[in-house]
Amino acid sequence: MTQDELFKVLVAHCKEYGFIFPSSEIYDGLAAVYDYGQMGVQLKNNIKNYWWEAMTRLNENIVGIDSAIFMHPRIWEASGHVGAFNDPLIDNKDSKKRYRADVLIEDYLGKIEEKIEKEVAKGRKKFGDSFDEAQFRATNPNVLREKAKWDEVHNRYVAAEKANDFAEYRQIIIDCNIVCPISGTCNWTEVRQFNLMFSTSMGSTADGANLIYLRPETAQGIFVNYLNVQKTGRMKIPFGIAQIGKAFRNEIVARQFIFRMREFEQMEMQFFIKPGTELDWFKKWKETRMKWHVNLGMGAENYRFHDHEKLAHYANAATDIEFNFPFGFKELEGIHSRTNFDLGNHQKFSGKKIEYFDPEENTSYTPYVIETSIGVDRMVLAVLAHSYTVEPLENGEERVVMRIPAPLAPIKVAVMPLVKKDGLPELAQKVVDELKYDFSYQYDEKDSIGKRYRRQDAIGTPFCVTVDHDSLNDGCVTVRERDTMKQERVKIEDLRDMIEKKVSLTNLLRNL
Ligand code: GAP
Repeated sequence: MTQDELFKVLVAHCKEYGFIFPSSEIYDGLAAVYDYGQMGVQLKNNIKNYWWEAMTRLNENIVGIDSAIFMHPRIWEASGHVGAFNDPLIDNKDSKKRYRADVLIEDYLGKIEEKIEKEVAKGRKKFGDSFDEAQFRATNPNVLREKAKWDEVHNRYVAAEKANDFAEYRQIIIDCNIVCPISGTCNWTEVRQFNLMFSTSMGSTADGANLIYLRPETAQGIFVNYLNVQKTGRMKIPFGIAQIGKAFRNEIVARQFIFRMREFEQMEMQFFIKPGTELDWFKKWKETRMKWHVNLGMGAENYRFHDHEKLAHYANAATDIEFNFPFGFKELEGIHSRTNFDLGNHQKFSGKKIEYFDPEENTSYTPYVIETSIGVDRMVLAVLAHSYTVEPLENGEERVVMRIPAPLAPIKVAVMPLVKKDGLPELAQKVVDELKYDFSYQYDEKDSIGKRYRRQDAIGTPFCVTVDHDSLNDGCVTVRERDTMKQERVKIEDLRDMIEKKVSLTNLLRNL
Protein backbone atom coordinates (compact mmCIF):
# COMPACT_ATOMS: atom_id res chain seq x y z
CA MET A 1 0.00 0.00 0.00
CA THR A 2 1.33 3.49 -0.83
CA GLN A 3 1.42 6.09 1.95
CA ASP A 4 -1.44 7.87 0.17
CA GLU A 5 -3.62 4.75 0.20
CA LEU A 6 -2.67 4.04 3.80
CA PHE A 7 -3.76 7.56 4.75
CA LYS A 8 -7.16 7.04 3.09
CA VAL A 9 -7.60 3.77 4.99
CA LEU A 10 -6.73 5.57 8.24
CA VAL A 11 -9.33 8.29 7.58
CA ALA A 12 -11.97 5.59 6.92
CA HIS A 13 -10.93 3.73 10.08
CA CYS A 14 -11.26 6.91 12.15
CA LYS A 15 -14.82 7.29 10.95
CA GLU A 16 -15.80 3.64 11.27
CA TYR A 17 -14.65 3.41 14.89
CA GLY A 18 -15.97 6.73 16.17
CA PHE A 19 -12.76 8.76 16.31
CA ILE A 20 -13.43 11.53 13.77
CA PHE A 21 -16.41 12.38 11.55
CA PRO A 22 -16.67 15.01 8.80
CA SER A 23 -18.64 17.95 10.22
CA SER A 24 -22.29 18.32 9.14
CA GLU A 25 -22.03 15.04 7.28
CA ILE A 26 -25.75 14.58 6.61
CA TYR A 27 -25.58 17.89 4.73
CA ASP A 28 -22.59 16.60 2.73
CA GLY A 29 -20.01 18.02 5.11
CA LEU A 30 -18.25 21.33 5.59
CA ALA A 31 -14.78 21.52 4.10
CA ALA A 32 -11.87 21.25 6.54
CA VAL A 33 -14.12 21.08 9.60
CA TYR A 34 -14.35 17.86 11.61
CA ASP A 35 -16.19 16.49 14.64
CA TYR A 36 -14.66 14.19 17.24
CA GLY A 37 -16.67 11.08 18.01
CA GLN A 38 -16.91 9.03 21.17
CA MET A 39 -13.37 7.62 20.83
CA GLY A 40 -11.76 10.72 19.34
CA VAL A 41 -12.87 13.02 22.13
CA GLN A 42 -11.31 10.77 24.78
CA LEU A 43 -8.03 10.53 22.87
CA LYS A 44 -8.03 14.30 22.44
CA ASN A 45 -8.80 14.93 26.12
CA ASN A 46 -5.98 12.58 27.16
CA ILE A 47 -3.53 14.47 24.94
CA LYS A 48 -4.71 17.78 26.38
CA ASN A 49 -4.35 16.45 29.94
CA TYR A 50 -0.83 15.22 29.25
CA TRP A 51 0.14 18.68 27.96
CA TRP A 52 -1.72 20.64 30.64
CA GLU A 53 -0.31 18.63 33.55
CA ALA A 54 3.21 18.67 32.08
CA MET A 55 3.03 22.46 31.79
CA THR A 56 1.12 23.57 34.86
CA ARG A 57 1.84 20.83 37.39
CA LEU A 58 5.46 20.00 36.65
CA ASN A 59 6.45 23.67 36.48
CA GLU A 60 5.78 25.65 39.62
CA ASN A 61 6.11 28.88 37.64
CA ILE A 62 3.56 28.08 34.92
CA VAL A 63 -0.15 28.72 35.44
CA GLY A 64 -3.10 28.13 33.13
CA ILE A 65 -5.90 30.38 31.92
CA ASP A 66 -8.93 30.11 29.65
CA SER A 67 -9.56 33.36 27.77
CA ALA A 68 -12.51 34.20 25.52
CA ILE A 69 -12.51 33.54 21.79
CA PHE A 70 -13.98 36.98 21.06
CA MET A 71 -11.52 39.75 21.78
CA HIS A 72 -11.31 43.48 21.17
CA PRO A 73 -10.65 44.06 17.44
CA ARG A 74 -7.70 46.35 18.16
CA ILE A 75 -5.86 43.32 19.55
CA TRP A 76 -5.54 41.90 16.04
CA GLU A 77 -4.17 45.19 14.77
CA ALA A 78 -1.60 45.24 17.57
CA SER A 79 -0.61 41.63 16.96
CA GLY A 80 -0.09 42.25 13.24
CA HIS A 81 -2.81 39.82 12.15
CA VAL A 82 -4.97 42.45 10.41
CA GLY A 83 -2.03 43.68 8.35
CA ALA A 84 0.05 40.61 7.77
CA PHE A 85 -1.69 37.30 8.50
CA ASN A 86 -1.84 36.36 4.84
CA ASP A 87 -1.33 33.38 2.57
CA PRO A 88 0.11 33.75 -0.95
CA LEU A 89 -2.56 32.37 -3.28
CA ILE A 90 -2.40 31.45 -6.93
CA ASP A 91 -5.22 30.30 -9.24
CA ASN A 92 -5.07 27.94 -12.15
CA LYS A 93 -6.89 29.70 -15.01
CA ASP A 94 -8.08 26.47 -16.61
CA SER A 95 -9.42 24.53 -13.60
CA LYS A 96 -10.29 27.74 -11.67
CA LYS A 97 -8.82 26.00 -8.61
CA ARG A 98 -6.97 28.04 -5.99
CA TYR A 99 -3.73 26.94 -4.32
CA ARG A 100 -1.18 28.26 -1.85
CA ALA A 101 1.86 29.15 -3.93
CA ASP A 102 4.28 28.28 -1.12
CA VAL A 103 2.63 24.87 -0.63
CA LEU A 104 2.93 24.07 -4.36
CA ILE A 105 6.66 24.74 -4.17
CA GLU A 106 7.12 22.85 -0.89
CA ASP A 107 5.28 19.83 -2.31
CA TYR A 108 7.53 19.95 -5.37
CA LEU A 109 10.60 19.95 -3.09
CA GLY A 110 9.06 17.09 -1.08
CA LYS A 111 8.71 15.02 -4.28
CA ILE A 112 12.41 15.51 -5.07
CA GLU A 113 13.26 14.39 -1.52
CA GLU A 114 11.11 11.28 -2.05
CA LYS A 115 12.98 10.48 -5.29
CA ILE A 116 16.30 10.76 -3.46
CA GLU A 117 15.10 8.47 -0.66
CA LYS A 118 13.85 5.91 -3.21
CA GLU A 119 17.28 5.91 -4.89
CA VAL A 120 18.95 5.39 -1.49
CA ALA A 121 16.54 2.54 -0.66
CA LYS A 122 17.39 0.88 -3.99
CA GLY A 123 21.11 1.16 -3.17
CA ARG A 124 20.54 -0.33 0.27
CA LYS A 125 18.73 -3.28 -1.24
CA LYS A 126 21.38 -3.83 -3.90
CA PHE A 127 24.47 -3.63 -1.67
CA GLY A 128 23.05 -5.21 1.50
CA ASP A 129 25.33 -5.15 4.57
CA SER A 130 28.19 -3.48 2.71
CA PHE A 131 26.02 -0.41 1.93
CA ASP A 132 27.72 2.86 2.85
CA GLU A 133 24.85 5.37 2.83
CA ALA A 134 26.98 8.50 3.22
CA GLN A 135 29.22 7.53 0.33
CA PHE A 136 26.22 6.56 -1.82
CA ARG A 137 24.59 9.94 -1.20
CA ALA A 138 27.85 11.72 -2.04
CA THR A 139 28.57 9.85 -5.29
CA ASN A 140 25.46 8.33 -6.89
CA PRO A 141 24.76 10.36 -10.07
CA ASN A 142 20.94 10.16 -9.75
CA VAL A 143 21.06 11.34 -6.15
CA LEU A 144 23.50 14.13 -7.04
CA ARG A 145 21.34 15.31 -9.94
CA GLU A 146 18.17 15.43 -7.79
CA LYS A 147 20.04 17.06 -4.89
CA ALA A 148 21.37 19.81 -7.20
CA LYS A 149 17.82 20.44 -8.46
CA TRP A 150 16.52 20.57 -4.87
CA ASP A 151 19.27 22.99 -3.80
CA GLU A 152 18.59 25.35 -6.68
CA VAL A 153 14.82 25.52 -6.16
CA HIS A 154 15.16 25.65 -2.38
CA ASN A 155 17.63 28.55 -2.51
CA ARG A 156 15.35 30.53 -4.83
CA TYR A 157 12.34 29.77 -2.63
CA VAL A 158 14.06 30.84 0.61
CA ALA A 159 15.29 34.06 -1.00
CA ALA A 160 11.77 34.82 -2.33
CA GLU A 161 10.25 34.07 1.07
CA LYS A 162 12.70 36.37 2.82
CA ALA A 163 12.02 39.19 0.36
CA ASN A 164 8.22 38.59 0.22
CA ASP A 165 8.77 38.39 -3.53
CA PHE A 166 5.53 36.82 -4.80
CA ALA A 167 6.36 37.33 -8.48
CA GLU A 168 9.36 35.05 -7.87
CA TYR A 169 7.05 32.41 -6.28
CA ARG A 170 5.10 32.35 -9.54
CA GLN A 171 8.30 32.24 -11.60
CA ILE A 172 9.57 29.24 -9.60
CA ILE A 173 6.24 27.46 -10.18
CA ILE A 174 6.46 28.12 -13.91
CA ASP A 175 10.18 27.28 -14.20
CA CYS A 176 9.66 23.97 -12.36
CA ASN A 177 6.64 23.24 -14.56
CA ILE A 178 4.45 22.68 -11.50
CA VAL A 179 1.04 21.92 -12.95
CA CYS A 180 -2.45 22.06 -11.46
CA PRO A 181 -3.40 18.50 -10.44
CA ILE A 182 -6.91 19.03 -11.85
CA SER A 183 -6.27 20.66 -15.25
CA GLY A 184 -2.69 19.44 -15.67
CA THR A 185 -1.72 22.88 -17.02
CA CYS A 186 0.76 25.52 -15.95
CA ASN A 187 -1.60 28.40 -16.76
CA TRP A 188 -1.28 30.37 -13.50
CA THR A 189 -2.51 33.79 -12.36
CA GLU A 190 -0.35 36.22 -10.38
CA VAL A 191 0.17 35.43 -6.67
CA ARG A 192 -2.13 37.43 -4.35
CA GLN A 193 -2.21 37.89 -0.58
CA PHE A 194 -5.27 36.63 1.32
CA ASN A 195 -6.04 37.36 4.99
CA LEU A 196 -6.83 34.21 6.98
CA MET A 197 -8.98 35.64 9.77
CA PHE A 198 -12.71 34.95 9.99
CA SER A 199 -14.73 38.00 10.92
CA THR A 200 -18.21 38.53 12.26
CA SER A 201 -20.08 41.38 13.89
CA MET A 202 -20.94 41.94 17.52
CA GLY A 203 -24.12 43.81 18.42
CA SER A 204 -26.97 44.55 16.00
CA THR A 205 -26.28 46.52 12.84
CA ALA A 206 -28.64 49.28 14.01
CA ASP A 207 -26.39 49.77 17.06
CA GLY A 208 -23.41 50.31 14.83
CA ALA A 209 -22.02 46.79 15.11
CA ASN A 210 -18.34 46.16 15.70
CA LEU A 211 -16.38 44.03 13.28
CA ILE A 212 -14.73 41.37 15.38
CA TYR A 213 -12.59 38.35 14.55
CA LEU A 214 -12.61 34.74 15.59
CA ARG A 215 -9.16 34.40 17.16
CA PRO A 216 -6.60 32.87 14.77
CA GLU A 217 -4.35 31.89 17.72
CA THR A 218 -4.90 31.55 21.47
CA ALA A 219 -1.64 33.36 22.29
CA GLN A 220 -3.09 36.88 22.23
CA GLY A 221 -5.52 35.94 25.03
CA ILE A 222 -2.42 35.23 27.12
CA PHE A 223 -0.62 38.45 26.20
CA VAL A 224 -3.55 40.67 27.06
CA ASN A 225 -3.90 38.91 30.43
CA TYR A 226 -0.20 39.18 31.26
CA LEU A 227 -0.73 41.97 33.82
CA ASN A 228 -3.79 40.32 35.39
CA VAL A 229 -2.00 37.02 35.96
CA GLN A 230 1.33 38.53 36.99
CA LYS A 231 -0.31 40.75 39.60
CA THR A 232 -3.00 38.42 40.98
CA GLY A 233 -0.66 35.41 41.00
CA ARG A 234 2.30 37.48 42.30
CA MET A 235 4.33 35.83 39.56
CA LYS A 236 8.05 36.48 39.35
CA ILE A 237 9.91 36.41 36.08
CA PRO A 238 10.64 33.89 34.62
CA PHE A 239 7.09 32.55 34.55
CA GLY A 240 4.68 31.10 32.02
CA ILE A 241 0.97 31.19 31.16
CA ALA A 242 -0.56 28.19 29.42
CA GLN A 243 -3.84 27.91 27.56
CA ILE A 244 -5.76 25.35 25.52
CA GLY A 245 -8.49 26.56 23.20
CA LYS A 246 -10.06 26.86 19.80
CA ALA A 247 -8.55 28.92 16.99
CA PHE A 248 -9.97 29.68 13.54
CA ARG A 249 -8.27 30.27 10.20
CA ASN A 250 -9.84 30.57 6.79
CA GLU A 251 -7.31 28.17 5.29
CA ILE A 252 -7.64 28.14 1.54
CA VAL A 253 -5.72 24.99 0.97
CA ALA A 254 -7.25 23.02 3.79
CA ARG A 255 -6.46 19.34 3.35
CA GLN A 256 -4.84 16.24 4.75
CA PHE A 257 -7.73 15.51 7.07
CA ILE A 258 -7.23 17.12 10.49
CA PHE A 259 -3.73 18.38 9.64
CA ARG A 260 -4.96 21.72 8.33
CA MET A 261 -8.42 22.70 9.52
CA ARG A 262 -10.49 25.87 9.59
CA GLU A 263 -11.53 25.36 13.20
CA PHE A 264 -8.90 23.72 15.38
CA GLU A 265 -7.47 23.68 18.86
CA GLN A 266 -4.12 24.92 20.10
CA MET A 267 -2.12 24.34 23.28
CA GLU A 268 0.05 27.41 23.74
CA MET A 269 2.40 28.56 26.46
CA GLN A 270 4.02 31.98 26.67
CA PHE A 271 7.07 32.07 28.90
CA PHE A 272 7.93 35.59 30.11
CA ILE A 273 11.62 36.26 30.64
CA LYS A 274 14.20 38.94 31.13
CA PRO A 275 15.49 40.49 27.87
CA GLY A 276 18.87 39.06 26.96
CA THR A 277 18.12 35.58 28.37
CA GLU A 278 15.92 34.53 25.46
CA LEU A 279 18.34 32.34 23.55
CA ASP A 280 19.10 30.22 26.64
CA TRP A 281 15.37 29.81 27.36
CA PHE A 282 14.68 29.07 23.69
CA LYS A 283 17.21 26.22 23.86
CA LYS A 284 15.72 24.94 27.10
CA TRP A 285 12.17 24.93 25.74
CA LYS A 286 13.28 23.17 22.55
CA GLU A 287 14.73 20.36 24.68
CA THR A 288 11.75 20.25 27.06
CA ARG A 289 9.19 20.06 24.32
CA MET A 290 11.08 17.41 22.35
CA LYS A 291 11.32 15.32 25.51
CA TRP A 292 7.55 15.61 26.00
CA HIS A 293 6.99 14.17 22.52
CA VAL A 294 9.60 11.40 22.65
CA ASN A 295 8.33 10.33 26.10
CA LEU A 296 5.20 8.95 24.40
CA GLY A 297 7.28 6.17 22.89
CA MET A 298 6.38 6.78 19.25
CA GLY A 299 10.07 6.65 18.20
CA ALA A 300 12.61 9.47 18.55
CA GLU A 301 13.45 9.00 14.86
CA ASN A 302 9.95 10.25 13.94
CA TYR A 303 10.64 13.78 15.19
CA ARG A 304 13.06 16.42 14.00
CA PHE A 305 13.67 20.13 14.43
CA HIS A 306 13.31 22.44 11.49
CA ASP A 307 14.93 25.79 12.28
CA HIS A 308 13.31 28.68 10.43
CA GLU A 309 15.44 30.37 7.81
CA LYS A 310 13.02 33.25 7.48
CA LEU A 311 12.26 34.82 10.84
CA ALA A 312 9.19 36.94 11.41
CA HIS A 313 10.22 40.55 12.01
CA TYR A 314 9.51 40.21 15.76
CA ALA A 315 11.29 36.88 16.28
CA ASN A 316 14.97 36.28 16.92
CA ALA A 317 14.81 32.47 16.82
CA ALA A 318 12.17 29.98 15.69
CA THR A 319 11.96 26.27 15.12
CA ASP A 320 9.34 23.65 14.32
CA ILE A 321 9.14 20.20 15.80
CA GLU A 322 8.24 18.12 12.77
CA PHE A 323 6.65 14.69 12.91
CA ASN A 324 6.92 11.93 10.35
CA PHE A 325 3.28 11.97 9.13
CA PRO A 326 2.17 9.55 6.36
CA PHE A 327 2.73 12.44 3.93
CA GLY A 328 6.27 13.18 5.19
CA PHE A 329 7.87 15.24 7.96
CA LYS A 330 5.59 18.21 8.70
CA GLU A 331 5.19 20.80 11.44
CA LEU A 332 3.57 19.56 14.63
CA GLU A 333 4.65 22.28 17.03
CA GLY A 334 6.28 25.71 16.79
CA ILE A 335 8.72 27.20 19.30
CA HIS A 336 9.36 30.90 18.86
CA SER A 337 11.45 33.53 20.59
CA ARG A 338 9.04 36.47 20.11
CA THR A 339 11.08 39.21 21.83
CA ASN A 340 8.84 41.89 23.41
CA PHE A 341 6.93 42.42 20.18
CA ASP A 342 3.46 41.43 21.42
CA LEU A 343 3.57 43.01 24.88
CA GLY A 344 5.25 46.10 23.42
CA ASN A 345 2.57 46.51 20.77
CA HIS A 346 -0.29 45.96 23.22
CA GLN A 347 1.29 48.64 25.37
CA LYS A 348 1.34 50.98 22.37
CA PHE A 349 -2.17 50.19 21.11
CA SER A 350 -3.92 50.08 24.51
CA GLY A 351 -2.01 52.91 26.12
CA LYS A 352 -1.60 50.77 29.27
CA LYS A 353 1.85 50.27 30.71
CA ILE A 354 2.82 46.60 30.44
CA GLU A 355 6.04 46.15 32.35
CA TYR A 356 7.64 44.05 35.01
CA PHE A 357 9.40 45.52 38.00
CA ASP A 358 12.44 43.45 38.85
CA PRO A 359 12.90 43.89 42.63
CA GLU A 360 16.39 42.37 42.62
CA GLU A 361 17.75 44.72 39.99
CA ASN A 362 15.44 47.60 40.82
CA THR A 363 14.54 48.10 37.13
CA SER A 364 11.41 47.82 35.02
CA TYR A 365 11.22 46.25 31.59
CA THR A 366 8.78 44.81 29.07
CA PRO A 367 9.41 41.05 29.27
CA TYR A 368 10.59 38.97 26.34
CA VAL A 369 8.65 35.84 25.46
CA ILE A 370 9.39 32.28 24.42
CA GLU A 371 6.30 30.64 22.97
CA THR A 372 5.57 26.95 22.55
CA SER A 373 2.54 26.29 20.34
CA ILE A 374 1.15 22.91 19.35
CA GLY A 375 -2.02 21.97 17.48
CA VAL A 376 -4.14 19.48 19.44
CA ASP A 377 -5.64 18.07 16.24
CA ARG A 378 -2.23 17.65 14.63
CA MET A 379 -1.13 15.80 17.74
CA VAL A 380 -4.23 13.56 17.48
CA LEU A 381 -3.33 12.88 13.84
CA ALA A 382 0.29 12.08 14.75
CA VAL A 383 -0.88 9.56 17.36
CA LEU A 384 -3.51 7.98 15.09
CA ALA A 385 -1.21 7.74 12.06
CA HIS A 386 1.60 6.26 14.10
CA SER A 387 -0.68 3.80 15.88
CA TYR A 388 -2.52 2.33 12.90
CA THR A 389 -1.04 -1.11 12.23
CA VAL A 390 -2.20 -4.08 10.18
CA GLU A 391 -0.74 -7.35 11.46
CA PRO A 392 -0.89 -10.92 10.12
CA LEU A 393 -2.20 -13.46 12.60
CA GLU A 394 -1.17 -17.11 13.01
CA ASN A 395 -4.50 -18.34 11.59
CA GLY A 396 -3.83 -16.53 8.29
CA GLU A 397 -6.21 -13.66 9.06
CA GLU A 398 -5.08 -10.19 9.92
CA ARG A 399 -5.91 -7.72 12.65
CA VAL A 400 -6.00 -3.93 12.64
CA VAL A 401 -4.56 -2.69 15.89
CA MET A 402 -4.23 0.90 17.06
CA ARG A 403 -1.01 0.91 19.08
CA ILE A 404 -1.98 4.14 20.83
CA PRO A 405 0.39 4.96 23.72
CA ALA A 406 -1.53 3.34 26.60
CA PRO A 407 -1.98 6.51 28.74
CA LEU A 408 -3.63 8.20 25.74
CA ALA A 409 -5.90 5.31 24.75
CA PRO A 410 -9.61 6.30 24.77
CA ILE A 411 -10.66 3.06 26.49
CA LYS A 412 -8.21 1.54 28.94
CA VAL A 413 -9.89 -1.78 29.60
CA ALA A 414 -12.65 -3.94 28.13
CA VAL A 415 -14.46 -6.38 30.41
CA MET A 416 -16.06 -9.43 28.78
CA PRO A 417 -17.92 -12.42 30.18
CA LEU A 418 -16.99 -15.48 28.12
CA VAL A 419 -20.68 -16.37 27.76
CA LYS A 420 -23.91 -14.53 28.53
CA LYS A 421 -25.04 -16.99 31.21
CA ASP A 422 -23.98 -19.08 34.24
CA GLY A 423 -23.42 -15.99 36.39
CA LEU A 424 -20.52 -14.74 34.23
CA PRO A 425 -22.17 -11.39 33.28
CA GLU A 426 -22.84 -10.74 36.98
CA LEU A 427 -19.22 -11.39 37.94
CA ALA A 428 -18.04 -9.27 34.96
CA GLN A 429 -20.24 -6.46 36.24
CA LYS A 430 -18.48 -6.74 39.61
CA VAL A 431 -15.13 -6.42 37.82
CA VAL A 432 -16.47 -3.30 36.08
CA ASP A 433 -17.48 -1.88 39.47
CA GLU A 434 -13.90 -2.50 40.70
CA LEU A 435 -12.35 -0.65 37.75
CA LYS A 436 -14.76 2.06 36.62
CA TYR A 437 -13.64 4.74 39.07
CA ASP A 438 -10.07 4.62 37.77
CA PHE A 439 -10.32 3.70 34.10
CA SER A 440 -12.45 4.36 31.04
CA TYR A 441 -13.91 0.97 30.13
CA GLN A 442 -16.25 -0.89 27.82
CA TYR A 443 -18.40 -3.86 28.80
CA ASP A 444 -18.90 -6.23 25.86
CA GLU A 445 -20.80 -9.52 25.85
CA LYS A 446 -21.71 -9.80 22.14
CA ASP A 447 -20.09 -12.16 19.59
CA SER A 448 -17.15 -14.52 19.97
CA ILE A 449 -14.19 -13.54 22.15
CA GLY A 450 -12.05 -13.31 18.99
CA LYS A 451 -14.41 -10.75 17.44
CA ARG A 452 -14.53 -8.77 20.69
CA TYR A 453 -10.71 -8.66 20.82
CA ARG A 454 -10.67 -7.36 17.21
CA ARG A 455 -13.10 -4.56 18.12
CA GLN A 456 -10.93 -3.49 21.06
CA ASP A 457 -7.74 -3.69 18.96
CA ALA A 458 -9.36 -1.38 16.43
CA ILE A 459 -9.85 1.35 19.04
CA GLY A 460 -6.54 0.68 20.79
CA THR A 461 -7.72 -0.68 24.17
CA PRO A 462 -4.57 -1.79 26.05
CA PHE A 463 -6.27 -4.53 28.12
CA CYS A 464 -9.11 -7.00 27.64
CA VAL A 465 -10.31 -8.83 30.74
CA THR A 466 -12.27 -12.06 30.22
CA VAL A 467 -14.39 -13.59 32.95
CA ASP A 468 -14.83 -17.37 32.49
CA HIS A 469 -16.24 -20.30 34.44
CA ASP A 470 -12.98 -20.77 36.40
CA SER A 471 -13.27 -17.16 37.55
CA LEU A 472 -16.33 -18.15 39.62
CA ASN A 473 -14.15 -20.51 41.67
CA ASP A 474 -10.64 -19.03 41.68
CA GLY A 475 -11.46 -15.29 41.57
CA CYS A 476 -9.05 -14.86 38.65
CA VAL A 477 -9.64 -13.47 35.15
CA THR A 478 -7.72 -13.69 31.87
CA VAL A 479 -5.99 -10.46 30.93
CA ARG A 480 -5.00 -10.10 27.30
CA GLU A 481 -2.51 -7.37 26.38
CA ARG A 482 -3.14 -5.45 23.13
CA ASP A 483 0.33 -5.31 21.58
CA THR A 484 1.73 -8.74 22.41
CA MET A 485 -1.68 -10.51 22.54
CA LYS A 486 -0.20 -12.40 25.53
CA GLN A 487 -2.70 -13.68 28.07
CA GLU A 488 -2.24 -14.23 31.77
CA ARG A 489 -4.41 -15.13 34.75
CA VAL A 490 -4.69 -12.32 37.27
CA LYS A 491 -6.56 -12.11 40.58
CA ILE A 492 -9.48 -9.69 40.34
CA GLU A 493 -8.15 -7.69 43.29
CA ASP A 494 -4.76 -7.24 41.52
CA LEU A 495 -6.29 -5.98 38.25
CA ARG A 496 -6.38 -2.30 39.18
CA ASP A 497 -2.66 -2.07 40.00
CA MET A 498 -1.67 -4.07 36.96
CA ILE A 499 -3.62 -1.86 34.56
CA GLU A 500 -2.60 1.33 36.35
CA LYS A 501 1.11 0.59 35.86
CA LYS A 502 0.75 0.69 32.10
CA VAL A 503 -1.94 3.29 31.47
CA SER A 504 -1.23 5.87 34.15
CA LEU A 505 -0.70 9.47 33.13
CA THR A 506 1.21 9.94 36.40
CA ASN A 507 3.88 7.46 35.32
CA LEU A 508 4.15 9.17 31.95
CA LEU A 509 4.63 12.52 33.69
CA ARG A 510 7.18 11.01 36.10
CA ASN A 511 9.39 10.05 33.15
CA LEU A 512 9.66 13.63 31.93
N1 GAP B 1 0.83 31.46 18.31
C1 GAP B 1 1.69 30.93 17.32
C2 GAP B 1 1.00 30.19 16.29
O1 GAP B 1 -0.22 30.17 16.20
P1 GAP B 1 1.45 28.63 14.21
O2 GAP B 1 2.75 28.00 13.75
O3 GAP B 1 0.68 29.39 13.21
O4 GAP B 1 1.86 29.53 15.45
C3 GAP B 1 0.94 26.74 15.91
O5 GAP B 1 0.51 27.52 14.83
C4 GAP B 1 0.48 25.30 15.75
O6 GAP B 1 -0.94 25.27 15.57
C5 GAP B 1 1.05 24.58 14.54
O7 GAP B 1 2.32 24.02 14.82
C6 GAP B 1 0.01 23.52 14.28
O8 GAP B 1 0.23 22.39 15.10
C7 GAP B 1 -1.28 24.19 14.71
N2 GAP B 1 -2.03 24.70 13.55
C8 GAP B 1 -1.83 25.87 12.90
N3 GAP B 1 -2.72 26.01 11.90
C9 GAP B 1 -3.50 24.91 11.92
C10 GAP B 1 -4.62 24.46 11.14
N4 GAP B 1 -5.12 25.20 10.15
N5 GAP B 1 -5.17 23.26 11.44
C11 GAP B 1 -4.68 22.51 12.46
N6 GAP B 1 -3.65 22.89 13.23
C12 GAP B 1 -3.06 24.06 12.97
